[in-house]
Amino acid sequence: MQPLSRKTAIVTGASSGIGRATALALARAGASVVVTARRLDRVEALARQIAEEGGSALPLRCDVREARDVEEVVETSRKQFGSVDILVANAGIMPLSLLRNLRVAEWMATVDVNVKGVLHSIAAVLPLFLEQKSGHIITLSSVAGRKVFPGSAVYCATKYAVRALSEGLRMELSPSDNIRVTIIEPGAVITELLETIRDPEALQGIQRYFQEGRALQAEDIARAIVYAVTQPPHVNVNEILIRPTFQEL
Ligand SMILES: NC(=O)c1ccc[n+]([C@@H]2O[C@H](COP(=O)([O-])OP(=O)(O)OC[C@H]3O[C@@H](n4cnc5c(N)ncnc54)[C@H](OP(=O)(O)O)[C@@H]3O)[C@@H](O)[C@H]2O)c1
Repeated sequence: MQPLSRKTAIVTGASSGIGRATALALARAGASVVVTARRLDRVEALARQIAEEGGSALPLRCDVREARDVEEVVETSRKQFGSVDILVANAGIMPLSLLRNLRVAEWMATVDVNVKGVLHSIAAVLPLFLEQKSGHIITLSSVAGRKVFPGSAVYCATKYAVRALSEGLRMELSPSDNIRVTIIEPGAVITELLETIRDPEALQGIQRYFQEGRALQAEDIARAIVYAVTQPPHVNVNEILIRPTFQEL
């Protein structure tokens, strides 16, 4: 039997990068995977790929800025698969900029997706996890959730917030309600994330970390997530920090 047989996982931001790789890896480990993002065509294509490999996937459109969207994903998943066991709250954006450039709309958009989106996702699964007295919440923080980089202040603030929320969740819900919480903290991973940067100064500062062949691949992070969710029930893998070998900061 595969390690995640009879488990259902919801992945937000599954249309590219880490979310996509994680959905594939979870499906290959036997989970039924609900693949969600705003770009429905991409998650539909991913679901087809998972099905062709013999796995089970349900593609759903979901904008994590909308509480109702995430609630509907949980309701539909429960109806389709009977339960939800794992939430990978992965959706995020990184429109880095220098504060003095006052790209205020981008600051607010980052908070909306990276903090409020994670809160909406947690709020949507918690009633079910509390009822089940089980569940596993994976959040995507970052090295930027442990260290502040110039040009990354707002993004770092959101990733610090994700780490704080996740630690609070663990303290409140792991001992009493058997809900496990894992914070994933990647360094530079080659994905589409850099495409959200519009401030040329900020892009210049960060590009040296994202070198093909040296930076991490999305699959490297997916393996860490599969590790966390395949441990025995008494093991709560709280944090995994993964840098590319060459990355110093
Ligand atoms: N790449 C890195 O170096 C790195 C390092 C540390 C942490 N992380 C974190 O890892 C997570 C995944 O990032 P990635 O590197 O895989 O980037 P990515 O390839 O750009 O993927 C981001 C995903 O988030 C989704 N998304 C964005 N806004 C959304 C919204 N409003 N509602 C729902 N989904 C939304 C995107 O899908 P749609 O546009 O289709 O909605 C996409 O699937 C993020 O939280 C990021 O902060 C990445």
